[in-house]
Amino acid sequence: MSYHEDICSTIGNTPLVKIRNLTAEAGVTCTVLAKLEFMNPGGSVKDRMAVWVIEDAVASGLLKPGGTIIEATSGNTGAAVAMYAAANGYKALITAPDKTSPEKLNTMRAFGAELVVCPTEVPADSPDNYYETAKRLHSETPGSFFLEQYQNVKNIDAHYDVTGPEIWNQTDGKITCLVGGIGTGGTVSGCARYLKEQNASVEIVGADPYGSIYYQYHKDGTLIEPSTYLVEGIGEDMICKSIDLSVIDKIYQVNDQECFDTARAMTRKEGIFAGGSSGAAVKVALEHAKTLPAEAVVVVILTDSGMKYVSKMYDDEWMKEKGLKF
Ligand SMILES: Cc1ncc(COP(=O)(O)O)c(C=O)c1O
Repeated sequence: MSYHEDICSTIGNTPLVKIRNLTAEAGVTCTVLAKLEFMNPGGSVKDRMAVWVIEDAVASGLLKPGGTIIEATSGNTGAAVAMYAAANGYKALITAPDKTSPEKLNTMRAFGAELVVCPTEVPADSPDNYYETAKRLHSETPGSFFLEQYQNVKNIDAHYDVTGPEIWNQTDGKITCLVGGIGTGGTVSGCARYLKEQNASVEIVGADPYGSIYYQYHKDGTLIEPSTYLVEGIGEDMICKSIDLSVIDKIYQVNDQECFDTARAMTRKEGIFAGGSSGAAVKVALEHAKTLPAEAVVVVILTDSGMKYVSKMYDDEWMKEKGLKF
């Protein structure tokens, strides 16, 4: 008999799949491998970090049996928290911005999470902001554990411990470049720290939406006035403890049209059902790979699936409403 003791022990060991058709179209000669993180049971890369950080909190006594786990999320960390809570007898109290797709909001509700949806278009320090709301709920809920993916350095530690080694081993140490979208920054930073420890010349490349602060801050330390964009899960309006910009070599900017076009192309031309932030990462991976020699091995992280956006970027009417081409 071969089986898992519980759902969370199925997290990880996600496949690497070669991107064949889009690379050929783009004139890329090196190998570009998509890391299908949407194959985790909660549907995203965030399962790894959320479960790692929660189990650490349980081990250290910060989270007691039956307690409440609080998190501010663009949906994927919330699904991971809610899945863990459902399987292990905890309560999940989640805040999310109102631009979060209905699919992601309903997934968290389906797992039994209590959800507080907050306005997207408010300043980072507004009391109505989803992060500020989570902080308040934490202070009002006795014995609660606030995962706090944006300010928790354990977000980086989780990917250093789990995701980085998995990528290194799957590529037999042949990876030369890692590309990923940057949200909290935890995924890319944690993988980067591990990979650079194994081979200092592994290049780390990030994708950042126009309107987010990362690109300019990484370039010259200037903090721009942030503005909104449609792609979910990547970009930021504040610098958080969950990112280590020193291990990121290069950041490219992407716009919504590029994110969604590339995600749709991954689905139609590779049969890989990619979400918008995965589209951003693939767009940047292809752009960057054009500059690399044939022997380069690029791994690009596909954070979540297009299934989470069928009513948004995969809906032609929605694209039209937003003034986007499709
Ligand atoms: C859809 C999606 N893509 C990318 C990311 C970025 O991952 P990280 O927060 O580790 O930078 C997130 C984070 O929430 C996400 O939800």
